[in-house]
Amino acid sequence: MRKKISLIGAGQIGGTLAHLIALKGLADIVLFDVAEGIAKGKALDIAQSSPVSGFNMNIIGTNSYEDTKNSDVIIITAGVPRKPGMTRDDLLGINLKIIKQVADGIRNTSPNAFVICITNPLDVIVMALQKYSGFPKNKVVGMAGILDSSRFIYFLSQELNVPVQKIKSFVLGGHGDSMVAMLNSTTVNGKNIHELVKEGKIKKKTLDEIVNRTKNGGAEIVKYLEKGSAFYAPAASGVEMAESYIKDQKKQLPCAAYLNGEYDTKGLYAGVPVIIGASGVEKVIQMDLSDEEKVNFQKSIRSVQDLLEAAKKIDNSLN
Ligand code: NAI
Ligand code: 2OP
Repeated sequence: MRKKISLIGAGQIGGTLAHLIALKGLADIVLFDVAEGIAKGKALDIAQSSPVSGFNMNIIGTNSYEDTKNSDVIIITAGVPRKPGMTRDDLLGINLKIIKQVADGIRNTSPNAFVICITNPLDVIVMALQKYSGFPKNKVVGMAGILDSSRFIYFLSQELNVPVQKIKSFVLGGHGDSMVAMLNSTTVNGKNIHELVKEGKIKKKTLDEIVNRTKNGGAEIVKYLEKGSAFYAPAASGVEMAESYIKDQKKQLPCAAYLNGEYDTKGLYAGVPVIIGASGVEKVIQMDLSDEEKVNFQKSIRSVQDLLEAAKKIDNSLN
């Protein structure tokens, strides 16, 4: 039977998600937005590309949650994106309210869905979404780590003149300035990045600059676009998660998942490698971190915790 994916938020990422899902033939698509015209217009535009692109998925736009009923996957981008000079955290108050409305909208209509949250500030919003919706923790997950890792790999490939496919790496922790690039697990053509530094193939200073550029990857795009933030790479990352769930691919992907003691962290969502398959988040993969990586990961966790405290002050039902 055809799968159904509902996209809550038909803005820049929502529209791109719809197009990618249609091109991949992954599922029928419902584009939902409070701005009904945007959802309907984008759905119609994408549908009109089907004879050219050769897909036959159903795609509709709506502002009624009834149309999202019995979705297999829900991807949430509803919210307000960053504007120049604005931090992800500034978005907290506005997006908490929006995510509460979304939780109310999907709770009874798609109780068995796998829910991927993209709305920022990611780690806290995904945590709030799980609490507001009451969905199982393994069925609510946040997208950020795939994007951050993809940016890091791309920058390394440009510097080293090596195809992205030959570089393995991932970025963990919160989706913010404290995210942690896992250098000990970063390999280029199978060789650890530290070895390449020793061999003089890349300067330590250059590697540090690439790590920093990755941390600021979102802000760099915001600065160029002036209105709005990144959407092509974020949408591609969200689709990878949805596909792994729908096709039970059991891919290991860095995602914001609920931690219950893993990585010395309890009761919090943060970016870690997980297995995504037909049961949702099937496993949190415990990686061996170096002492430095452990310290940086805990620093990142503290910044997520601080933001969660700020969220609890805004809405004490999150306590
Ligand atoms: P956008 O502004 O283009 O789209 C957001 C859409 O949400 C708008 O069409 C708006 O009408 C809709 N919306 C607002 N309130 C709503 C509600 N109550 N119910 C349903 N829809 C509602 O924004 P864009 O660029 O698509 O970004 C979406 C979110 O994703 C932002 O919060 C942004 O910061 C975040 N983001 C997260 C990334 C990550 O790695 N997790 C990466 C890039 C962006
Ligand atoms: C990004 O990383 C703004 O969080 C968004 O592009």
